[in-house]
Amino acid sequence: MTTLIAFTGSTRSASFHTRLINSLPAYAPEGTSIALFDLSEVPFYNQDLEGEALPDAVIAMRAAVAEADGIVIAAPEYNGSYSALTKNTIDWLSRPMGQGVLREKKVMVISATPGPGAGARVTEQIVGLLGFFGNTVVGTVNVATIHEKMSADADVVTDSALADQLRTALAAF
Ligand SMILES: Cc1cc2nc3c(=O)[nH]c(=O)nc-3n(C[C@H](O)[C@H](O)[C@H](O)COP(=O)(O)O)c2cc1C
Repeated sequence: MTTLIAFTGSTRSASFHTRLINSLPAYAPEGTSIALFDLSEVPFYNQDLEGEALPDAVIAMRAAVAEADGIVIAAPEYNGSYSALTKNTIDWLSRPMGQGVLREKKVMVISATPGPGAGARVTEQIVGLLGFFGNTVVGTVNVATIHEKMSADADVVTDSALADQLRTALAAF
């Protein structure tokens, strides 16, 4: 059994990143479970909250990552970089310094955009950051014109090349 925890960097109700995470079980090898972690109760990072004041949602998030075999980060590109939500998630998981749970993990990174850029800039930045913490990126999936590659009314990828990319990345965990 391979247990994956997934994070979306968008709270938008129709977020392509959240929808892509929801689609992943169809492309994962048998015996893989993928759980989307609910970030709604995770506050902005504040070092005052470390220690006894650590929010329950952060405790749960860190425990989920510690126990997982791998992590999926679906990261929208905002102004050529991370969304605040993606960066906040990584910042919480990077602390305490040197002991953060997001290290020596296998990680898959997805970025999708309706535009032509395919999220290449944010993916490059995340891959660099993950390497800094000693993680192994098992796959990156960059998607341009995502609105043409998913079903309009279901969280299903309709583009066979994208489906193959997701299968390849998930098989690498
Ligand atoms: C503040 C902001 C900045 C954006 N900057 C970029 C960008 O630099 N490159 C890009 O390809 N798309 C950019 N976009 C478009 C997003 O890729 C698009 O809104 C995408 O659907 C967001 O992901 P979501 O569907 O999961 O919410 C930006 C969107 C917003 C809201």
